[in-house]
Amino acid sequence: MTPPDVLDRLRLDVPVAQAGMGGGLAGVDLAVAVAAAGGLGTLGLMPPAQLRDAVRAVRAAAPGRAVAVNLLMPFLRRSHVEACVESRIDVAVLAFGGDHALVRELTEAGVFVFVMVGTEGQARAAVHWGAAGLIAQGSEAGGHLSGDTPASELLPRALKIAEDRIVLVAGGIACAHDTAAALSAGAGGVVAGTRFLLTHEARAHPQYQQRVLAADKTFRTTLFGLAWPAPHRVVPNAATQRWCHEDGTAKLAPRLINAGSAVLAKLPDRAAASLVRAQTPRLPLFSPVAPTVDMPGSVVDRAALYAGESALRMSSVIPVRQAVAELAPR
Ligand SMILES: Cc1cc2nc3c(=O)[nH]c(=O)nc-3n(C[C@H](O)[C@H](O)[C@H](O)COP(=O)(O)O)c2cc1C
Repeated sequence: MTPPDVLDRLRLDVPVAQAGMGGGLAGVDLAVAVAAAGGLGTLGLMPPAQLRDAVRAVRAAAPGRAVAVNLLMPFLRRSHVEACVESRIDVAVLAFGGDHALVRELTEAGVFVFVMVGTEGQARAAVHWGAAGLIAQGSEAGGHLSGDTPASELLPRALKIAEDRIVLVAGGIACAHDTAAALSAGAGGVVAGTRFLLTHEARAHPQYQQRVLAADKTFRTTLFGLAWPAPHRVVPNAATQRWCHEDGTAKLAPRLINAGSAVLAKLPDRAAASLVRAQTPRLPLFSPVAPTVDMPGSVVDRAALYAGESALRMSSVIPVRQAVAELAPR
């Protein structure tokens, strides 16, 4: 059976979605600009009261467009779900976890539920939970990683498991050629994170954006794993130079500290923000929070500089309108 057309289903002009990036990176300005350019704008996870205001603001600024919210499962609280349901969001993207009850609750509230997956096992689980669509995240992706299979290998496997559901591809999407290749391999569309991180509308600190543009490599590590000890892709900085081995793996001290730290994921939002300000490259205590515009520039040497391999093919910070145009298939 042919999957439903993603453009019709999600009210898009182009099959391009912006990844919801948490920690304040993907807020209202980014989602509105992407939606206005015809793509799927997505709010990153934020405190529930702020999320309600943000959904309202996106609706007001981009009327008629779908509003998507990223549900970063390790940090998800009941009040986030209530905010999504009561704000009648159009699309939810569950990432790094999920369950049957949550997918059912959102679906019954009229939400189109995507689950981001990095393995065949995760794809099967998402289908079992009742997901309406899958996002196949390849190992070249920036930020946290769901698996270790490149997108080109994961996509055909995810398509088989998804049957008649929409499958989007995340990871390695830097230009229209990448989108065209994903579509011809059977994807319904693409998800880009790094390309949108490197736009004027993202809330990434400008020095973070410049570090990503200047980098000559990205690598997988678990260094920034306090509260969430899962693998992620970053570019180098003073913290990784001090606390990672040559191949990117975190040294023993941060690994031991991170391993027992998952309980910290339930810290109140304000406490998590102060944690990143207190970080120093000298001590192996590194939270997952990335540098945003409201932090001092010096944070770029002690916080996670998430970026995908796609970053190595980007040369400047651009407006969202241009990013969407450059990703849209011609
Ligand atoms: C800076 C950054 C932050 C991210 N934050 C999140 C997040 O909060 N939730 C999530 O599901 N994925 C997150 N991701 C991963 C994206 O969903 C997506 O899989 C990835 O960006 C795709 O690869 P690309 O960066 O090469 O486009 C993040 C990615 C980046 C680059």
